Amino acid sequence: MRHLTRYLSFVLGIGFLGTGLFVIGCSKSEPASQTGAGGEKKAKSSYTIGMSQCNLGEPWRVEMNAQIKATADKHPNLKVIFKDAQNDTLKQRAHVEEFVGAGVDLIIISPKEAQPLTEPVAKAMDAHIPVIVLDRSLLGDKYTCFIGADNKKIGRAAGEWIVKKLGGKGKVVELKGLMTSTPGQDRNRGFRDAIAGTGIEIVFEADMKWLEPDARKEMESALSRFNKIDCVYAHNDPGAHGAYLAAQAAGRAKEMMFVGIDALPHEGVAYVKQGILDATFQYPTGGAEAIDSALKILHGEAVPKQITLGSRVFDKENVATGGVELK
Ligand code: FRU
Repeated sequence: MRHLTRYLSFVLGIGFLGTGLFVIGCSKSEPASQTGAGGEKKAKSSYTIGMSQCNLGEPWRVEMNAQIKATADKHPNLKVIFKDAQNDTLKQRAHVEEFVGAGVDLIIISPKEAQPLTEPVAKAMDAHIPVIVLDRSLLGDKYTCFIGADNKKIGRAAGEWIVKKLGGKGKVVELKGLMTSTPGQDRNRGFRDAIAGTGIEIVFEADMKWLEPDARKEMESALSRFNKIDCVYAHNDPGAHGAYLAAQAAGRAKEMMFVGIDALPHEGVAYVKQGILDATFQYPTGGAEAIDSALKILHGEAVPKQITLGSRVFDKENVATGGVELK
């Protein structure tokens, strides 16, 4: 409880930073009662939602929780219990088990990794607690609803942007997100598909686990090994920023472009405006959509099995006018 109070005051402190989120595609709409969890519950006057966040070390995740809180606060009959797994998979497994033990009405989880979180979520579903999976996915489809943007599409768009800006050839460093998480896998796949058959060469690749300090360290190795690097493609903006800091410290930041993903207004988009990043691709957190879907599920209404959020690209040419939507 003390932890919760501390956390809530933190989130209230940073305030609600709204981002434009758009649901662009849905599939397999089915009533919650057919998902194997939740639908058979009687209507209640108030509901408790357990939210397990994989970490709160990055601004993107603080923003996700802030959106969840701001949206839930509009509904006085909703209570959200936030837990922070501090990037520890075992802790996050325990969170889900604790929520099941406490008999919450619904669980929202933004999992650190796919495989280890699949089983506890399946057990929650077996206990008839609906589960919304946010941003990073699980193995299989034993959950009520998944909400996230299309990471393959974003990776492909980043690849196409880089191919275009480099005129079809050049040496690229790829700093990957945690490769046991689905966004890392998909941002890599989409990007590789886009550069296949072009003159783009990946001279260095490393898993920086979504973390800026790791990205900076990996980039120091890349810089010491290669005296020509044309572009860094990082799977998130903290990674791109870490790479930029390494290049700047080596006096080489002006030699290359830096491309990231997330595009938070006060992070990636601000970096583009400041000339630190050359481009960033928006990855909406889905916090507001999670509460909207939670309410439907709790009221026994149909929700799509998959809600795909839209994305935008922000670069020097379009950042002043709000970026351009990915088609
Ligand atoms: C934050 C983060 C974001 C990234 C997302 C992917 O933990 O690394 O920067 O877009 O997770 O799941």
